[in-house]
Amino acid sequence: MEGRLESKVLIREFDEDKDFKIVEKLEKNCEIGTKKGVSIFTNMVGDPLSRIRFYPLHVTLVAEILETKELVGVVRGCIKSMGTPSESFFKMGCILGLRVSPSHRRKGVALKLVTSVEEWMLRNGAEYASLATEKNNDASINLFTIKCNYVNLSSLFIFVHPIPTSTPIVHISRDIKIEKVNIDQAISLYRRTLKSKELYLLDMDVILKEKLSLGTWVSYFKDEDKLNLMKMVDNENTIITNETSSSSWVMFSIWNTCEAYKLQLKKSQPLRFLHTTLNHAREKIFPCLRMSLSESLCNPFGFLFLYGLHGEGENLGELMESIWRFTSRLGESMKDCRVVITELGFGDPLTKYVPQTDSMSCMDDLWYSKKLSSQIGEKDEVLVKGQVGNVFVDPRDF
Ligand SMILES: CC(C)(COP(=O)(O)OP(=O)(O)OC[C@H]1O[C@@H](n2cnc3c(N)ncnc32)[C@H](O)[C@@H]1OP(=O)(O)O)[C@@H](O)C(=O)NCCC(=O)NCCS
Repeated sequence: MEGRLESKVLIREFDEDKDFKIVEKLEKNCEIGTKKGVSIFTNMVGDPLSRIRFYPLHVTLVAEILETKELVGVVRGCIKSMGTPSESFFKMGCILGLRVSPSHRRKGVALKLVTSVEEWMLRNGAEYASLATEKNNDASINLFTIKCNYVNLSSLFIFVHPIPTSTPIVHISRDIKIEKVNIDQAISLYRRTLKSKELYLLDMDVILKEKLSLGTWVSYFKDEDKLNLMKMVDNENTIITNETSSSSWVMFSIWNTCEAYKLQLKKSQPLRFLHTTLNHAREKIFPCLRMSLSESLCNPFGFLFLYGLHGEGENLGELMESIWRFTSRLGESMKDCRVVITELGFGDPLTKYVPQTDSMSCMDDLWYSKKLSSQIGEKDEVLVKGQVGNVFVDPRDF
């Protein structure tokens, strides 16, 4: 077709020294989800790759016009080890931060970038490829479903809660205790609780040991403390929970994105102020932030991401509220922290206990996946049949 660029474009690895500035510029030109009068940009605090570096195996590929050496597209990929309840383990490649310069769109550049990142994933042992995108991103959905044969894997809810700046944060009930656990205890707890997910990560220990992970806590009712955390996890960090107990408890971990990058909303600013992130956090949370646009969000701000939420027992509503209050209070004490965000799969039993306050916003996120390797057995086919409801959301994706 006339105007197609596939044969005129070279896909090569990103060269930090040479490409840094050009990719940054390319990111700035790729507005996504920008709504009238408001834009949001990201300050990567001097390290544009700070997000992707959290993945042990990752790559950044750029699309370069052969003749002019102009960079017209970029894509990032990483590989994670994942598991399912049937104890099948596999490597999943994730596509992140795909961008094509507006002046070079609909010429096959993204298709070539996606094909190349899939080839990198396959060479590095990935059996599946996946990506997340906003429900209303038709270009991305068409590209992946029509051209690249991805299928819808899961639908998720992103919950965004601005930390109040003027009104004081409501106190946590005196009946509730929130206790921090150490990393070994957290790993031990996750070893047990992650099995309830239809899709979970195998390298939780890596995430929990990252500097952006602020810790793991357990929230429970004081009068039910006969079975509190310390009794669930003995001194050798072995789980000794009485499965028949009716005690209610919720566990959660917090990821501090404020240290990695900042977001900023601009009212009535031209798009030239829009700096996009290398990942999808910005475009994902944009519609929510738009709803809750306030003066405090017009200064650079960061957010805390709640991850690994898991609850057991009958009385989870109050415990879930306590988590948001606790995290808001923590964020309040941190410089430039303005928002608490979490993401849960549509089938996660905790979604119905997320506090429904006026300031809480919710939006849909879609995950797509594709089988890369022909070696995959039938028992793993669940991943390409679609609609996995209760999934672990990786804080590094935000
Ligand atoms: C999505 C994006 C990467 C597509 O880049 P591109 O180079 O224009 O895509 P391609 O030319 O390779 O298009 C391949 C197919 O995708 C689909 N597609 C691409 N743009 C589309 C659009 N605007 N509307 C509908 N379908 C579109 C079409 O099926 C297209 O095939 P066709 O041109 O033969 O009809 C680009 O629009 C972009 O950078 N958008 C902003 C960032 C973004 O949303 N990234 C995706 C995050 S997951």
